[in-house]
Amino acid sequence: MSKSSTGRQRQSEIFVHGLGGQVPLVPTAPAPLEAAAQRHMNPVAFAYVAGSAGAERTAQANLAAFERVRLVPRALTGHSARDLSVTLFGQTYPVPFFLAPIGVLELAHPQADLAVARAAHAEGVSFLLSSQASFPMEQVAQAMQGTPHWFQLYWGTDDGVTRSFVQRAERSGARAIVVTLDTTLLGWRPRDLDLGALPFLRAKGIAQYLSDPVFRSRLQVPVAPASVTPPRSLALLRVAAEHALKARAFQLSPGQVREACARFVATYTNPALSWDDLARLRQWTTLPIVLKGILSADDAREAQRRGVDGLIVSNHGGRQIDGEQASLDALPAVVEAVGSLPVLLDSGIRTGSDIAKALALGARAVLLGRPYMYGLALAGEAGVAEVLRNLTAEFDLTLGLLGAPGAQALDHSYLASSR
Ligand code: FNR
Repeated sequence: MSKSSTGRQRQSEIFVHGLGGQVPLVPTAPAPLEAAAQRHMNPVAFAYVAGSAGAERTAQANLAAFERVRLVPRALTGHSARDLSVTLFGQTYPVPFFLAPIGVLELAHPQADLAVARAAHAEGVSFLLSSQASFPMEQVAQAMQGTPHWFQLYWGTDDGVTRSFVQRAERSGARAIVVTLDTTLLGWRPRDLDLGALPFLRAKGIAQYLSDPVFRSRLQVPVAPASVTPPRSLALLRVAAEHALKARAFQLSPGQVREACARFVATYTNPALSWDDLARLRQWTTLPIVLKGILSADDAREAQRRGVDGLIVSNHGGRQIDGEQASLDALPAVVEAVGSLPVLLDSGIRTGSDIAKALALGARAVLLGRPYMYGLALAGEAGVAEVLRNLTAEFDLTLGLLGAPGAQALDHSYLASSR
């Protein structure tokens, strides 16, 4: 599908609206977008979204890696039309970026995943629905109105629940299952630690679990009593109110919601997972299986040997390990290791030229993370739609200025060799 004039159209729209005194709904550059979201969001919510592990050196490295890669345009190529589309697993996607799975979107806006899904559909962008969503996957899939979506899986210690998630995802039309591998434990995130805030304990971001028949059936059997209990204080009244709201939304008792939070925390990560477990997932679904969180070329080769369909090079936006390799730096070796296996990338995508750099280094597509959550925080569905429109426009203009005929034509020849 050609979107040859997307960039110029968006520029014209903005400048013509400007004649009437109207400026864009959300800032068009990444740093002002984040700053505006920070001013708008409550500090706990902003900390959860913006925060990363440790001294946040991985998050900084992700951005620095994009700084180091430099593009080289080609002159007089005569390409007046640009094809932004990419094909993955037999499906053509109109733009080479997807919306990354982001949990607890209700921290940014009450319509959360539903608002993102509607905006994604409006802009023709695919969305990876998170295991930690704020609305059940069936509702979010419906809000996508047929625009393809994938489902991201956190594989916890309860196989019954994991399998149920996969089967629900397949039934609700997901086109792929993305297994996130880098969250076998929760990273050490000082911004959240210093505020003593983990949204899941307030029943936020656990809608897939609260709506899951297998998980709900487990609530009759309490998990082992917690070794730590909260001090008695007025703050607990607020938590009780939050639990009561979820109880109403999911037709559970407040006690069951409390139990669900405890069960979720006790089961959602699984450090015991190993390569052999992937064979079980293969039995549970006929969908393509994509592994998210690969940085090592050896792991990439192993995944390919195990029959995985695709990889996402990612360090989770730096939220897991401090001092990890930047995602973009890991990309070339992973691509080289697996040949024709589709490799996607996230962690640090902020602009249209970032997309061009990742594609030139061999990614078939990328995932956009934090920026769309900032758009959601600032203006709900319309804010997400605008972030997506701007990114598409910027990518289209970048391609045009590079003299490239389309997204799939980008390769090393568009990069300065002195990396
Ligand atoms: C995430 N990410 C994530 N990944 C995943 O597989 N499942 C999830 O539920 C979440 N949740 C989540 C919440 C928040 C607040 C953030 C910021 C990130 C990681 C996400 O998919 C992606 O890898 C990163 O966002 C990429 O980094 P940048 O580009 O956003 O910095």
